[in-house]
Amino acid sequence: MAEALLEVSKLRAGYGERAVIEEVSIAVAAGEIVTIVGHNGAGKSTLLRAIFNLVPDRAGTIRLGSTDLFPLSPDRLLSSGVAYVPQGRSIFPKLTIAENLRMGGYTIRDERLLARRIDHVNTLFPVLPERRAQLAGTLSGGEQRMLEMARALLVDPQLVMLDEPSIGLAPRVVALIFDTVKLLKREGKAVLMVEQNVRAALAASDRGYVIELGRIRLEDAGPKLIDDPRVAQLYLARRAYTQR
Ligand SMILES: Nc1ncnc2c1ncn2[C@@H]1O[C@H](COP(=O)(O)OP(=O)(O)O)[C@@H](O)[C@H]1O
Ligand SMILES: [Mg+2]
Repeated sequence: MAEALLEVSKLRAGYGERAVIEEVSIAVAAGEIVTIVGHNGAGKSTLLRAIFNLVPDRAGTIRLGSTDLFPLSPDRLLSSGVAYVPQGRSIFPKLTIAENLRMGGYTIRDERLLARRIDHVNTLFPVLPERRAQLAGTLSGGEQRMLEMARALLVDPQLVMLDEPSIGLAPRVVALIFDTVKLLKREGKAVLMVEQNVRAALAASDRGYVIELGRIRLEDAGPKLIDDPRVAQLYLARRAYTQR
């Protein structure tokens, strides 16, 4: 792996007495897509939320290059180059695409800079300028996900964190979303995503980690993890369990 941009070391986080994630150490380089896969409830969302300082109890180290991210508020994280797209809809359905994009740029005071950034994301996501006056709530699921990613890019982040970008989408659209994630990589961003869609997500990723019960169990190149019998075992075992 190239030199890490994001470095998370021995992160522990939870919502009270019990830690939901423990001893989590991960790294993501610029231009790298890293995916954390794991079952529902494994602690994937908690991990991203903990990095974005949205979890009450935390300990450990979180660095972006030479910046200590740990003490920073979500607003400061955003202005320090970290974008976070939470799980589930985060757009404003009653606002237009154009209005949603402007909201995403609220931290950018310089109007001309904001206009340039909006132009840039519009070239990356051509569907957005075509529909700029359309209410975001009337977009398809895949289009809404693209608007969310476009909005996250407005601050020109170094790191983009995506919580289950493919959830609830038809298989054809899932492929499109992961193509879009690769576009973030080509933009030189470090991408950290969490996914339950194990196979498709790992296929699109440079590296992956498997998280189970709040701990990292395995780490490898994305495509290698797909073929790892231990991954198959983790998932098959659980499926057999839940079908009982
Ligand atoms: N706000 C919260 N308060 C208390 N417990 C939570 C909260 N959010 C998540 N949890 C618990 O943390 C565990 C991990 O949840 P989560 O990180 O959402 O998993 P995943 O995203 O992998 O499905 C679960 O047991 C869940 O019930
Ligand atoms: Mg989750």
